[in-house]
Amino acid sequence: MEYRSQKIAYWYFAAALPLFALQILLGLYLAFSYTWTVPQSIVDAFSFATARAMHTNLLVLWMLLGFMGGTYYIVPEETKSEIYSEKLAWFQLIALLATGVAALVGFFFGWTQGRPLLEIPSPLDFVVVVGALIFLFNVAMTMIKANRWTAIQGTLLGGLVFLALLYLFGMPFYKNLVIDWYYWWWVIHLWVEGAWELVTAAIFAFILMKITGVERQVVEKWLYVEIGLFLFTGIAGTGHHYYWIGAPRYWLWIGGIFSALEPLPILLMLLDTMNHVKERKAKILNPLTWTYAVGCAIYHMIGAGVFGFLHTLPQINYYTHGSQVTVSHGHLAFFGAYALLNLMTFYYAMPKLKGIEVYDDSRGKYGFWVMSIAMMLMGLFFGVAGVLQSYVERAMGMGFMTAQSYMRLWMGAVFFVGLAFLGGLLTTVTDLLTIRPAKARV
Ligand code: HEM
Ligand code: HEM
Ligand SMILES: [Fe+2]
Repeated sequence: MEYRSQKIAYWYFAAALPLFALQILLGLYLAFSYTWTVPQSIVDAFSFATARAMHTNLLVLWMLLGFMGGTYYIVPEETKSEIYSEKLAWFQLIALLATGVAALVGFFFGWTQGRPLLEIPSPLDFVVVVGALIFLFNVAMTMIKANRWTAIQGTLLGGLVFLALLYLFGMPFYKNLVIDWYYWWWVIHLWVEGAWELVTAAIFAFILMKITGVERQVVEKWLYVEIGLFLFTGIAGTGHHYYWIGAPRYWLWIGGIFSALEPLPILLMLLDTMNHVKERKAKILNPLTWTYAVGCAIYHMIGAGVFGFLHTLPQINYYTHGSQVTVSHGHLAFFGAYALLNLMTFYYAMPKLKGIEVYDDSRGKYGFWVMSIAMMLMGLFFGVAGVLQSYVERAMGMGFMTAQSYMRLWMGAVFFVGLAFLGGLLTTVTDLLTIRPAKARV
């Protein structure tokens, strides 16, 4: 840690980790509900829909906290200055956490907007917007005051502004459902396949540069290419969500072609990382952070690139739309691209924030492998359930519940590997919060 104000990042990370654990407990309840019949009295008090809203909103909340903490860690080092206002950063953390808790308690009592992933009710939306504006103001002012612009800073700020602007499109409610879903996708798709990719590319570039010792120009050159491609394919790629919602026919072509090109920038990111493996100048002090970086690049490619591509063409999506095939891709992509990115950032920054140069990574390694393998199996099991579901429901034209009976076994398998995932995650959370210096290596 070079700047005092970077310390705030620690509290963002420490807040994100227990929320991640809570997200997983709710995921287990969901998989359990698919496999076994939960007594009606419990369902009346705590329905699948409520648990699902909590599972997905917690995901978004902890990841945004991670991105914000990452930004507060990186910006001082990039601008070579302290953060504009530490007080604002604290205020914004508390406001966001309070909104998150209010939303979760609200869901429990049925206070929800009902739109998946963006269930939080309008009054709370306004608090989120104020929090986001304070965050952007704080980050932008730090950069403007320092006036030492770099491509990493520009990409990070651009991605964060884009992310905040898109949120606004999810706030109004349109009476016409086609229009409502049309804009809902601007938030969901353009977040994960646009704005978040930019934030990720910037954070990834920063950490690669720091841990490999490769020159800034090498890292930044790729950043421009990747960003250009992400925007080019990602924006028109939104069309892969407009096939069946009642939007014009031309989206079948636009969505199909552009989204099929989306894996390209992800592949470039992977090749770029592999190049750094060869080119690296410095001895890598903390191999676990490096494992996370390489793991993230490969998993991002598999989850988003490969599993996204598999169902993105309208000819295939016609059968798989909204099935467990989608859920399989959703889990592998979110875990590969954004959970691993966040955990890589935590493993890079948290020891430094505690003044530890080389950390003991024995527990952390175990956590990484258990989580990565368990999630890959979970993705495959969701996928098998999804193919059975698509076949029985869409190809054979049989009923919803008939398909459910074929899926049950595989959802049970998801539950059991989910327990292993929880074990890996709890190890990782404990390790990060109690990280220790490595014993002297001889
Ligand atoms: C890191 C990046 C990505 C993440 C986190 C992600 C995540 C998700 C999630 C959570 C959904 C489900 C949304 C819902 O219906 O509730 C989804 C749907 C979808 N994704 Fe991705 N995705 C990513 C990248 C991609 C890419 C690169 C492609 C194409 C190559 C793709 C293709 C699709 C398609 C076609 C659907 C709609 C499935 C359906 O019709 O049910 N995704 N994605
Ligand atoms: C023990 C681990 C987990 C289990 C058992 C689990 C289970 C589930 C289940 C059963 C659903 C509902 C699917 C449906 O509505 O049909 C779901 C939704 C979802 N989960 Fe998980 N989950 C786990 C961990 C995770 C993790 C680590 C992430 C992200 C990194 C994640 C992201 C999501 C997303 C994005 C959705 C919505 C998918 C969609 O809209 O298609 N889950 N989860
Ligand atoms: Fe998409």
